[in-house]
Amino acid sequence: MKARIHGIDLAYSDQGQGPPVVFLHAFPLNRTMWTPQVEALHGHYRIITIDLRGHGESDTPMWRYTLEQFADDVIALLQHLSITKATFVGLSMGGYILFALYRKYPEHVRALVFADTRAQADTPEGKAARFSMAQIAYKRGATAIADLMLSKLLSPAALTTKPDLMEQLRIMITGNQISGIIGDLMAMEERPDSTDLLQKITCPTLVLAGEEDVASPPTEVRFIADHITGAEFVCIPQAGHLSNMENPEAFNAALGKFLDRLTEQ
Ligand code: MLT
Repeated sequence: MKARIHGIDLAYSDQGQGPPVVFLHAFPLNRTMWTPQVEALHGHYRIITIDLRGHGESDTPMWRYTLEQFADDVIALLQHLSITKATFVGLSMGGYILFALYRKYPEHVRALVFADTRAQADTPEGKAARFSMAQIAYKRGATAIADLMLSKLLSPAALTTKPDLMEQLRIMITGNQISGIIGDLMAMEERPDSTDLLQKITCPTLVLAGEEDVASPPTEVRFIADHITGAEFVCIPQAGHLSNMENPEAFNAALGKFLDRLTEQ
């Protein structure tokens, strides 16, 4: 499905009935990364997955991208769907967007789930790496980005034992336009530090980390849970950065338990 939001077409899926749960994908992927969660949860929840602008089947304008703008798009799409409050799940870049979203729209947040993400801004070295990756994307295209990213997205074991998952990720990455990939890199590079925001988060929060995540090491992910009052932390075994895809059973079990508890409250 598509909706006209802020002058562009945003692609999304809306499946199931029940309390709404909105999933925000990682860089440089699309909404299909959440397929294992949609399958597991849409029997009890209304699951919304979104191709953020610049990704998948959404429009990919050649212009500035910011995390706040992604958050604005998400909230406008929810208004279009008549959803005033939801639980939000964001993995990595999706988590960075959750910080922007909570900063601006706390009244729309029922609960937050951060997966494989961090609250800190990029270091100077991290910013330089964004610049280099943008030049590679511009000169050599999305295939070169897929070559660079796969080893960061998966655990070392998955790189040799899960060829289907690798192929799925390669298709997602190479299906994106360069304007979107470079837009993400600039948006992430200029994101503010969110460590001060953590103590202001008052909604129920779950934090998930792939045990073998090299892109967002579990100690950095855990920092988020340690600084939000009442937040729960779960380490997902046998999983790298894309913990929801590498170990969907453990990821879905932790997420399902959290969501079920919310509906009981
Ligand atoms: C992601 O998976 O979204 C990226 O690893 C985030 C980042 O590069 O900081």
